[in-house]
Amino acid sequence: MLSIQNVSVTYPNETEKALSQLSFNIKQGEFVCILGRSGAGKSTFIRTLNGLQPVTEGSIHVKGANVRQLSEKETRKLRTGVGMIFQHFNLIPRLSVKQNVLTGRFGQKPAYQNFFGLFSKQELSLAEYYLKEVGLLNYAERRVEHLSGGQKQRVGIARAMMQEPFILLGDEPVASLDPNTSKNIFKLLTTLHEERGLTTVINVHDVDLAKKFSSRILGLKKGELVFDGQPNELTDAVYNEIY
Ligand SMILES: Nc1ncnc2c1ncn2[C@@H]1O[C@H](COP(=O)(O)OP(=O)(O)OP(=O)(O)O)[C@@H](O)[C@H]1O
Ligand SMILES: [Mg+2]
Repeated sequence: MLSIQNVSVTYPNETEKALSQLSFNIKQGEFVCILGRSGAGKSTFIRTLNGLQPVTEGSIHVKGANVRQLSEKETRKLRTGVGMIFQHFNLIPRLSVKQNVLTGRFGQKPAYQNFFGLFSKQELSLAEYYLKEVGLLNYAERRVEHLSGGQKQRVGIARAMMQEPFILLGDEPVASLDPNTSKNIFKLLTTLHEERGLTTVINVHDVDLAKKFSSRILGLKKGELVFDGQPNELTDAVYNEIY
């Protein structure tokens, strides 16, 4: 599904690499958590996967295609299949829950159709389907700005699912939430993952969440991969190496 070969990223005017010689594969259906200290390169890595951050060396293949060699059109098409959830949710506060979820569909429409009311019946019922799945069907008509953080992230997840993604990425999606809400969000993510075999890659600071919910953990340190293993292999020694 994803093949990362000798990937390095150096930001303009920086001497140190933000990512250094990363090589590994991610298989269809894995639930990967990425751990690492602040500045380790977690966000940079996630951005390389959704094409927002070009790599300076190496290659990333997604479903067999080298992302560096795709045309603009092909890149756009690939991106519509990459769902993304964010620490600060990135919702449109004054729109309703349902409208926010529907915006997940924008990448798949020609620009002139990007107005509400132009969604098909199927899309409207798909939005309801995902709102039900994330437990927010009764909130469909509410403005997002009045929701709690956990509810906002559920909207973010439903919006990402509207893309019918082949991969779901998260850059610290629970960093602004309390421990119990964080756990519930991870439970929801594992449900989505298990029901569909959805490949999931999430940055997280909470080691316990990564150990409890992921199928594989990657540890980054100063841009290098220092751990790649199953949750039960993350011993105290490994923990100390990562942090
Ligand atoms: N736009 C940028 N320009 C220059 N340097 C950057 C940029 N973004 C990140 N960096 C640097 O790249 C390195 C990796 O940053 P990154 O944001 O990927 O880390 P992170 O693991 O996500 O950290 P955090 O846990 O704080 O979110 C850091 O040294 C950071 O200062
Ligand atoms: Mg980050």
